[in-house]
Amino acid sequence: MFADVVEGAGYGQLIPPLLEDLGVFTRIGDATDVVTKEMYDFVDKGDRHVALRPEVTASVCRSFAQHRPTVPWKVYYSGPNFRYEKPQRGRYRQFDQVGVEVLGVDDPQLDVEVIALAWEFYRRLGLTQVRLVVNSLGEPDDRARYVEALRDHFLAAGTGLSEQSRATLERNPLRVLDSKREPDGAFIASAPQIASFLSAEAAAHFDDVQRGLSALGIPFAVEPKLVRGLDYYRRTIFEFQGGTLDSAQNALGGGGRYDGLVEALGGPATPGVGFALGVDRTLLACDDEGVFPARPVELDAFVVDVTGGLQATEITAVLRAAGFAADRGYDNRSMKAQMKLANRSGAHVAVIVGDDELAAGTVVVKPLRTSSDQAPIARTALIDHLRTVTDASSTPSTGTDIT
Ligand code: HAM
Repeated sequence: MFADVVEGAGYGQLIPPLLEDLGVFTRIGDATDVVTKEMYDFVDKGDRHVALRPEVTASVCRSFAQHRPTVPWKVYYSGPNFRYEKPQRGRYRQFDQVGVEVLGVDDPQLDVEVIALAWEFYRRLGLTQVRLVVNSLGEPDDRARYVEALRDHFLAAGTGLSEQSRATLERNPLRVLDSKREPDGAFIASAPQIASFLSAEAAAHFDDVQRGLSALGIPFAVEPKLVRGLDYYRRTIFEFQGGTLDSAQNALGGGGRYDGLVEALGGPATPGVGFALGVDRTLLACDDEGVFPARPVELDAFVVDVTGGLQATEITAVLRAAGFAADRGYDNRSMKAQMKLANRSGAHVAVIVGDDELAAGTVVVKPLRTSSDQAPIARTALIDHLRTVTDASSTPSTGTDIT
């Protein structure tokens, strides 16, 4: 489903590796928990220091810096990431993301496009309680001045701040704004806001993003305290929050601009913007909202073979090659036991082979969902017959796939 949304907007699939040189991820920033505390990194047999990817954006930028594709480079991806976490509902050590990245375009209308794609994905899933929050972190200089102002503000709070936030303050004053701890609330509420530090250019860029979202009718809130967890962001940042999840794990996805990252990875100065959506949390939100239930695989035929099992091997192979979903009994169990499995499988029909049928080159097709009669037919006529009793030839049975 995700691929349908983004391919329809000109994005091509990229499959970055799960394992990268550690240096690719340290460029994300040494004030980022994802890098300093949450990365699975190790030295391999060739003495290379490598890491399981904690996210995909840095890999995409490394790939761009290495291969220099023509811009705009619009890619999408899906797959697992690894972060050292204490596992709990919505927070895992291995989790899946789907995402997009676009390199080479500065236009705020592109920020609008990527946000709109994620919004459309949630809409197609049927989620109605997703909230979009946006903010701008400005240019690097704006952000640096803001970080200093925040540092001064929180230092003045002294021991009024929680111990954890005092530790965070030393590493990254921006992240103190994320604290949900009781004593920090008042200091966060009175903290300076990034909006007063934005350059005219960054403010105009952010205005354009908001105008674009409004033009598309996408509801959003400007959240001045939104900072996001990764250091590479410049200007636009955004997050999709699920209405039904605990606040510590309610970010279903997020993204933003990271204009300096390709350069930091050895490529030319290249603007970039994108997002990643957490598949695990999105599915939790779907469960909570009762949308997008996983469809069980729907079987067309269940083959019951009481001649030893080889006939079932042949018949299921022929049926599957013709596009039917077919399962079978194993271990040469009795007719009664295999028919029980066939009934439980939910298949349209049972295709039955006994010694008589084997000798005559026929099979018995027994409808399982209606009370119509079972019919012996020539084996050579089985496919045509099944096409008349199932709609499988036009819609092969598949499970639902979020990616
Ligand atoms: P992120 O906010 O670190 O951003 O992760 C995006 C989403 O991945 C989160 O909103 C969440 O749904 C999911 N996620 C993160 N950690 C976990 C976890 N431990 N367990 C379950 N789900 C998790 C990024 O990864 C950036 N690369 C996004 C981006 C793309 N920015 C620009 N382009």
